[in-house]
Amino acid sequence: MYVDRVLSGMRPTGSLHLGHYHGVLKNWVRLQHEFECLFFVADWHALTTHYDSPGDIEDNVWQMVIDWLAAGVDPTKSTLFIQSQVIEHAELHLLLSMMTPLGWLERVPTYKDQQEKLTEKDLSTYGFLGYPLLQSADILIYRAKQVPVGEDQVPHIEFAREIARRFNHLYGKEPGYEEKAEGAVKRLGGKKAKLYQELRTRYQQSGDEAALDSARALLGETQNLSLGDKERLYGYLEGGGKMILTEPQALLTEASKMPGLDGQKMSKSYGNTIALREEPEMVVKKIRTMPTDPARVRRTDPGTPEKCPVWQFHQVYSTPEIRDWVRQGCTSAGIGCIECKQPVIDGVLKELAPIQARARALTEDPDTVKNIIADGCDKARDLARETMRDVREAMGLHFG
Ligand code: TRP
Ligand code: SF4
Repeated sequence: MYVDRVLSGMRPTGSLHLGHYHGVLKNWVRLQHEFECLFFVADWHALTTHYDSPGDIEDNVWQMVIDWLAAGVDPTKSTLFIQSQVIEHAELHLLLSMMTPLGWLERVPTYKDQQEKLTEKDLSTYGFLGYPLLQSADILIYRAKQVPVGEDQVPHIEFAREIARRFNHLYGKEPGYEEKAEGAVKRLGGKKAKLYQELRTRYQQSGDEAALDSARALLGETQNLSLGDKERLYGYLEGGGKMILTEPQALLTEASKMPGLDGQKMSKSYGNTIALREEPEMVVKKIRTMPTDPARVRRTDPGTPEKCPVWQFHQVYSTPEIRDWVRQGCTSAGIGCIECKQPVIDGVLKELAPIQARARALTEDPDTVKNIIADGCDKARDLARETMRDVREAMGLHFG
């Protein structure tokens, strides 16, 4: 069966919090059952903004990987690796930089935004400008079709699509392409060749996307074809040249309902987080002291759940019955805020207990974590090398 390849990365921010869990990790855990998934730590990307304090990066990498695993990312299903350990990403980044118009990079909306926001740092560096191109290399080197990301990253995925398109346009046409493609069709073998031609015609004459999907699936299943032929046939489907790099698309992660303790987005820089490895006593303390509807000064004042961050936690952790109890009790001053918070405390603790148990076991066994990553890096490297062979050849660099 043909399944899309999914790739996503995270900058190493150290240990993760409930915002990451509900916003990203649960999604990864779900995707790994449906797709071929690759997840990696973008440590080079961390250097684009933290080039002056590289000392923290390594520990942050391992802490983050522990949290991924503790949250249920399964190394037998997904490939987990570290960007800097697959140096082919850097080679692709370099080669892509040759054909990337500067204006494209300068126009990426995150570029000026971040530069203006992070004023304490000098971000007028080459590496920072190239951030989206390095990200494109991360994606394109695995020919990933789907990239699960949040809204903020969509311009970067769009950018990667444009780079792939430009690359294919510039380097995808080989001499005698048409004949080579027809030869490849013949090598598919009688029945498959006929089906391929039919699907290709249907797509090209009437834009039938289902036919395109079926034809791609057909190629995905086909084993007796060389890689070059396979790519040629992927490209031939759409009429263009050889599709050397795949155009990825953003797999938009649904905005998480999980807010921070103060109702804003949960983020370390706001100091409103509950870490995945937060001590249970701290969880209790943090929730007990989190702000509530400011209009509820006294126990006897009725409140409005919509104006209270605790209510948002109830959306994540509570059953409809408990939510009814909250709404009733809050608006009639029938319950106190501490009472109202208890089911949330219970819910968070229950969610964190198994995660923390796994994190503890992994912390005590760093070799296991290192081996998981070493295996993942090996697998990723093999895939990256396949693409790089084609990229080098397409760019006239076939020496070795
Ligand atoms: N820029 C992404 C972020 O900040 C991290 C990242 C780097 C990434 N390379 C990637 C995400 C490739 C998806 C695919 O979240
Ligand atoms: Fe918030 Fe609950 Fe207090 Fe109402 S009773 S203000 S929902 S904590």
